[in-house]
Amino acid sequence: MFLKFIALSLAVSVAVAVPNPIPQTVSLLERQSTETIYWYPNTSSLTRQNPTYNKTQLDEIKLAYTSNDRLSFIRSYGNTDDYFKYDFSPTLSSGNAGSGQGGQGILAQVGNFPVLMGTGLSLAMGFLGPCGLDSMHIHNRATELVLLIAGGPLQTSFVMEDGLTEPFNATIGLYQAVIRPMGSIHWEFNDNCHPATFVAALSNEDPGVSRTAQNFFVNPVDLVEGAMGYPGFLDGQTTDGIYRHLPRAFALGAKACLQRCGITYVPTDDPNYNTTTGQ
Ligand SMILES: *[C@@H]1O[C@H](CO)[C@@H](O)[C@H](O)[C@H]1NC(C)=O
Ligand SMILES: *[C@@H]1O[C@H](CO)[C@@H](O)[C@H](O)[C@H]1NC(C)=O
Ligand SMILES: *[C@@H]1O[C@H](CO)[C@@H](O)[C@H](O)[C@H]1NC(C)=O
Ligand SMILES: *[C@@H]1O[C@H](CO)[C@@H](O)[C@H](O)[C@H]1NC(C)=O
Repeated sequence: MFLKFIALSLAVSVAVAVPNPIPQTVSLLERQSTETIYWYPNTSSLTRQNPTYNKTQLDEIKLAYTSNDRLSFIRSYGNTDDYFKYDFSPTLSSGNAGSGQGGQGILAQVGNFPVLMGTGLSLAMGFLGPCGLDSMHIHNRATELVLLIAGGPLQTSFVMEDGLTEPFNATIGLYQAVIRPMGSIHWEFNDNCHPATFVAALSNEDPGVSRTAQNFFVNPVDLVEGAMGYPGFLDGQTTDGIYRHLPRAFALGAKACLQRCGITYVPTDDPNYNTTTGQ
């Protein structure tokens, strides 16, 4: 039964043709060469598909009164090697926390890794390409620690709230971490022509994410215009048009970086952009 279940999920994953990894061909002006840069090591030979859970299983885990009941339920689903670990390799995990021109994010949270239920923890990895920007966002229910584990340095900033609106900038080097307080608007930017990888620990099993530009422009255009003081560039636009034009996370960052690294910016006006999932 279990093998059948895994075989089925593998078959499904092949059928939907997971659109990763996405190699970027980047000419490196510094080195006067053109080479394919991957956002992450090619670890496909080491990875495996994370298991999926049906509603019955998720309910069973949630309704468990004790931690022992919960862990026993999860163990009853099969091999602990499948249900007690999570694979963040982007080759198989398909950027469930963002997949854009600038990289991708993988998040293990209670919904896809239910062993986290009751722990108050989740974990993410960010794979940023050259000039990759994990665009401005908040986590609704979690404080985050971002640790750079490859590439870099990584530019970061957060803005807290009214009354404390000066950005807190920090540049982190390899093996350095920076805090992103719960509810702060923050970003991470790889101002380099090589990839960067970070790990993000989050203080809630269901941290939530709200992309700042996306969730501003999703509002009625007349009110968005009012909130911005009626700027001319919004005349005749629809918020839907602006919304769909926004690059999905992860985006590409500063023009100076794109120029330095020889990356041509292609605006995304994605008709397949799903406003519900943000993917
Ligand atoms: C990654 O490694 C696998 C297994 O070694 C290989 O089959 C595949 O072609 C590699 N992919 C890339 C993009 O290099
Ligand atoms: C959920 O998965 C379990 C384990 O594979 C299986 O026994 C059960 O029948 C499934 N339930 C539903 C509603 O699909
Ligand atoms: C943060 O960095 C930006 C440039 O990215 C700069 O304009 C700003 O002055 C910096 N803020 C602080 C408080 O250092
Ligand atoms: C967007 O995604 C949601 C959730 O997966 C789905 O229910 C909805 O049908 C999708 N919308 C479009 C237009 O594809």
